[in-house]
Amino acid sequence: MSDKVFIFDTTLRDGEQALAASLSVKDKLQIAMALERLGVDIMEVGFPVSSPGDFESVQTIARTIKNSRVCALSRALEKDIDAAAQALSVAEQFRIHTFISTSNIHVESKLKRSFDQVLEMAVGAVKYARRFTDDVEFSCEDAGRTPIDNLCRMVEAAIAAGARTINIPDTVGYTVPNEFGGIIQTLFNRVPNIDQAVISVHCHDDLGLSVANSITAVQHGARQIECTVNGIGERAGNCSLEEVAMILSTRKDVMGVETNINTKEIYRTSQMVSQICNMPVQSNKAIVGGNAFTHSSGIHQDGMLKAKNTYEIMTPESIGLNRNHLNMTSRSGRHVIKHRMQEMGYSESDYSLDQLYDSFLKLADKKGQVFDYDLEALVFMEGKSDREPHYKLQQLQIQSDSIEGGANATVTLNIDGEAQTAKAHGNGPVDATYNAIAELGGEQINIISYQLGAKGQGQNALGQVDITAKYREQNFHGVGLATDVVEASAEALIYVMNLVRRADLVADQKQKILAKKELGGV
Ligand code: KIV
Ligand code: ZN
Repeated sequence: MSDKVFIFDTTLRDGEQALAASLSVKDKLQIAMALERLGVDIMEVGFPVSSPGDFESVQTIARTIKNSRVCALSRALEKDIDAAAQALSVAEQFRIHTFISTSNIHVESKLKRSFDQVLEMAVGAVKYARRFTDDVEFSCEDAGRTPIDNLCRMVEAAIAAGARTINIPDTVGYTVPNEFGGIIQTLFNRVPNIDQAVISVHCHDDLGLSVANSITAVQHGARQIECTVNGIGERAGNCSLEEVAMILSTRKDVMGVETNINTKEIYRTSQMVSQICNMPVQSNKAIVGGNAFTHSSGIHQDGMLKAKNTYEIMTPESIGLNRNHLNMTSRSGRHVIKHRMQEMGYSESDYSLDQLYDSFLKLADKKGQVFDYDLEALVFMEGKSDREPHYKLQQLQIQSDSIEGGANATVTLNIDGEAQTAKAHGNGPVDATYNAIAELGGEQINIISYQLGAKGQGQNALGQVDITAKYREQNFHGVGLATDVVEASAEALIYVMNLVRRADLVADQKQKILAKKELGGV
C-alpha cells in the first residue's frame, strides 16, 4: 500500500457553507491560492449547481490553480454533474465529486426511496460523471451510520461504475475511533475491487473525534483525508487540516505515511482563513491557537530554557511561526526575566536583577501579563512608570449619518492636565474617533489588529476591544472596556498611546543611563 496520504481540502465547500456570510469570488480565490502554496493535493471549492455565485467562483479558481487538483460537488443528479463539469472544464486537471446518502435514516426519511433505488442512482451518477473526466469521487453520505453490508455493496458498485476515489464520511460525527477504523478495515476485507480506488475519509467533529477518526482510518488503509483549515465546517466543523498534517509529520515514526503539505505555510494559511471568514481561532486550539507555543507555568519555562524539547514536541518554525513564547506572568521565575532581558540586548550589569524581579512580580500581580516594554520601563523609569497617564479620555461625541454614510467624532482628551478637542470624519464611528484621536496625539501609531468582543452576557455585556499597534518596529497591546464599543475602542487606542509615550521616555532615559555607565559614572 502506498505511503502517501492525499490531503483533500474542503474549506471552500464544506467550510464555506457553514459561514454566516458567504465569501466573495475574490476572497475564495485568495484562499485557494494559499491552499495551493500549502500543498493540498485536491481542493473542493464549491457546489456549482447551488448558485450562480458558486458556479463563478468554482470556474475562477479552476482557471487559476495549477498545482492542486480542483474539485466540485454534485448530488447524484445529472443537472448537478453538468454544472460541476461545466464550471471545472477550464481547469488543467479536475475532479467531480458526487454523493448520495446510504444510511437507513437518510435513505428512508430524506430520500424516501429503497436502498436498491439509491444504489442505482449512485451507479448512474458515477457513470455519468465519468463522461467528463476519469477522476470521479463518490461519497456515501452518513456512511458512519450505514449498515455495513449495504456500505460494502454500495462501495463495490461505485468502484465498478468507475469511481476512482471512494469517500466514507462520518457526516454527523457519531462514530468513535476503533469503530470507524473497523468500518474501513471491513471494506478492505470484504469489497473485492477495493484495490481499484483510493479510500478517503471525511469526518465531522460533533463529538470532537474527527481528527482521531481520520487518523485511525489511515492506520486501517485510508489514503485520503478530507479536512478544512482551522476545522471550519458544518455545526462543530470538519477534521482540521493543520492537526492532521502535523500528526502525520510529527508522528511519522508510528504512522509511516507522508503528505505533500508544506507545513511552514500552515500558520499563514490559518490566519488568512480566520480573517477572511471572520472566524477567530480559539487560543488553545492545537497547532494554530495563539497559545499553542506559549509556555506559562514557571516549571515549564524553566525546562524550555534548558532544552526546548522538554515541553515542545514540534517547533513553532515548523508551522511557519518565528519563535515560541514564554508568557511573562507572576508564575515566571527570575531566569525567565533575565533571559528576556538578554534577548532584548541587556547584560546583567545594565540593571539589578533582584530589583527588577521584585518590581516585575508587583506589576504582574496587578496586570496579569507583562510585556517587553513594561520590563524596560521598570528598569529605566525608576518608579516613575506608575505615574498618571499622559492621555485620558474626557469626552466623546459621535454623529453617524446612515443616509450619506460615514460618521463624525468629537473627542476631548485630557493631555497632561489640559483639555484638548479635535473633530474628524471617518467611514464609521470607530474610524472617525481614531482619526480625531490621531489629531491630538503626535505619535505615528500603526494599528495592525483590532478585535471586538464582549465581557458578560446579553444586553448587559461590556464591549471589549483589543488592539495591537506597531510603533518603531515594536508591538504594543491595548485593551479598552466600556458599555459603548466606540468608547472601548477609544480607550484601547489611548492605552497604547500612553504605552508608546512611556516607551519614548524609556528610550531617552535608557540612553542617558547607559551613556553615564560607559563613562564609568554609575
Ligand atoms: O459530511 C458529508 O457527508 C459531506 C458529503 C457531501 C461528503 O460533506
Ligand atoms: Zn461534510
